[in-house]
Amino acid sequence: FCNRLRHVESMSLQPSGAGRISHLNAVILGEPLESEENDLVFPSQEFSSQALVSSPEQYRNMYEKSIEDPAGFWSEIASQFYWKEKWNPEVYTENIDVRKGTVKFEWFKGGRTNISYNALDRNIEAGNGGKVAIYWEGNDLGDDGRLTYAELLEKVCQLANYLKHVGVRKGDAVIIYLPMLTELPIAMLACARIGAVHSVVFAGFSSESLSQRIIDCKPKAVITCNAVRRGSKPIHLKEIVDSALRESVKNGVTVDLCLTFENKSAMRREDTKWQDGRDVWWQDVVPLFPTKCDVEWVDAEDPLFLLYTSGSTGKPKGVLHTTGGYMVYTATTFKYAFDYKPSDVYWCTADCGWITGHSYVTYGPLLNSATIVVFEGFILLIQCEQFIQAPNYPDAGRCWNIVDKYKVTIFYTAPTLVRSLMREGDAYVTRYQRKSLRVLGSVGEPINPSAWRWFYNVVGDSRCPISDTWWQTETGGFMITPLPGAWPQKPGSATFPFFGVQPVIVDEKGNEIEGECSGYLCIKNSWPGAFRTLYGDHERYETTYFKPFAGYYFTGDGCSRDKDGYIWLTGRVDDVINVSGHRIGTAEVESALVSHPQCAEAAVVGVDHEIKGQGIYAFVTLVEGVPYSEELRKSLISVVRNQIGAFAAPDKIHWAPGLPKTRSGKIMRRILRKIASRQLNELGDTSTLADPSVVEQLISLGDC
Ligand code: WTA
Repeated sequence: FCNRLRHVESMSLQPSGAGRISHLNAVILGEPLESEENDLVFPSQEFSSQALVSSPEQYRNMYEKSIEDPAGFWSEIASQFYWKEKWNPEVYTENIDVRKGTVKFEWFKGGRTNISYNALDRNIEAGNGGKVAIYWEGNDLGDDGRLTYAELLEKVCQLANYLKHVGVRKGDAVIIYLPMLTELPIAMLACARIGAVHSVVFAGFSSESLSQRIIDCKPKAVITCNAVRRGSKPIHLKEIVDSALRESVKNGVTVDLCLTFENKSAMRREDTKWQDGRDVWWQDVVPLFPTKCDVEWVDAEDPLFLLYTSGSTGKPKGVLHTTGGYMVYTATTFKYAFDYKPSDVYWCTADCGWITGHSYVTYGPLLNSATIVVFEGFILLIQCEQFIQAPNYPDAGRCWNIVDKYKVTIFYTAPTLVRSLMREGDAYVTRYQRKSLRVLGSVGEPINPSAWRWFYNVVGDSRCPISDTWWQTETGGFMITPLPGAWPQKPGSATFPFFGVQPVIVDEKGNEIEGECSGYLCIKNSWPGAFRTLYGDHERYETTYFKPFAGYYFTGDGCSRDKDGYIWLTGRVDDVINVSGHRIGTAEVESALVSHPQCAEAAVVGVDHEIKGQGIYAFVTLVEGVPYSEELRKSLISVVRNQIGAFAAPDKIHWAPGLPKTRSGKIMRRILRKIASRQLNELGDTSTLADPSVVEQLISLGDC
């Protein structure tokens, strides 16, 4: 890898247009090879000269050190944080090779620290108490607020004290089901302060999904709010929680406390359904508690949070992150990938219900004592019709209005948002100044070069580098990402690995392949931010991630590397689809569909979607004798909404009297994918099917 980088380095930084490489051979997403997307895009001299990492050479030195001496590299960085006690002499231990025994990563074991202390008290002691920690922007224009670091600490302490008072202890789980109010990061930091393990459930998940998570992690408390307003319509979050808690009780899990924030702009408390004894208003209790709260010092390897994510089976996986390594890794990746400066105002549009909101709304930025913007909108759910399109409210210029209002310097979002705003036209962007912007970021799915160009040229006025950060819930933080001042970018490529990360591309047999190639993306070593297990199921952890290619962590993504060594992600290679940057397991959608009494079988595949990246396409076989109708189509979609959440609703239901199966009964998804994307000339060999005639039948029913 370092050799390949030398090549890039030799192309010293030049103004845009120069140093052009033609005929790149690894262009993803079907873009034509000869197109202008193949250009290199250089950071300006001015940007690079002030950047934390300002040249390929500087990166290479740091990267080499991080690979040759991970202990030295990471312990030097970790020392900048506060540790009540230092870690064991060995900075890390790892076994990534399942053939050699249990897979296990440990970083800074024996060290005692607290991430909430490091994100708040440490920054305040360094003189940042009066600095704005959070600018909060509500959906309605003019509805906003701010908290300094000192104020944020006080609020975190009050909630932490309350949680302790009601018996939440170190190691207990707490479920947080809140929209993007400041109470959401406050609740995360309060749990971390007392060593409780938070599990944030995205407030777009249905009550069934929520109860599944409650049953799995058996929380001591659930923290929610009564309602959230989308346009004029309130969504009654508390009622969703009520029904999830009823379902949990039926499964033997009783939660004694439902702490409910009264979100006055959405619903009055008098109108909220209430269960005395279990339900408590946040505003009635939390402000009564002291604004100082001693922290619980925890081991670096004590759990920090659980976050459920989709996999290739129907059951969501509880990804478990621990404290010390995650803290060091999220802070460091944030700092370098966005070239963070203390004067920055940073806005990440993700919701804290997803990993991006954990690592790069809450922990990474606050650990750097950054000023962040939290926007109430469910911004990544823009395509779910039943939500008001938050970033387009009151119009498609809202994002840039917020950028100008808070003088945002770093703007981090998802390609789906870029594509949807691009469709609205440039005028919504150009009517705002956007002068403060310095660095842009992208996450969640591959960004197609035309969206990259629009983001770069129109939003960033051709002067702001884009950090296209590739990572996953499991990785905790960025793995492959540009360092914005260090090297030229190629639109659509996540470029090179972050410090300490050794990505490899393997073939079907698990052999590493070199040079210009395509294959499966794996990681060769542990890194501080890696997840440590799947909650309660270490065996599934090993089977899913470490057995497919023994000796490596398998990411589930395909990728290619071009002749310059740039890495291009090409999307999931497993049964996971990526809809507007959200991971959805096809099996989860299938199991929701077949729970419909009239659905006998379902097979779900992803199809290209102009805005969402991928859309959900479901083939359904009905129970014998049931006719397919528009009404049934709607009720199939609503069953998915109710069981998972609106963001998982299929875009298309395709009635399938029969599904293409092998003689052993296995559904041939390859053929279904081709039918769904109308690539009918590429169906391939259908002769091994038990009944080849189903293919013709499916094609003829395609427009039902
Ligand atoms: C995809 C989100 C291409 C990828 C942080 C990965 C990306 C999955 C990128 C993880 C990117 C994320 N370019 N693909 N910059 N970022 N992905 O766990 O398929 O919600 O495996 O974490 O999103 O999704 P997750």
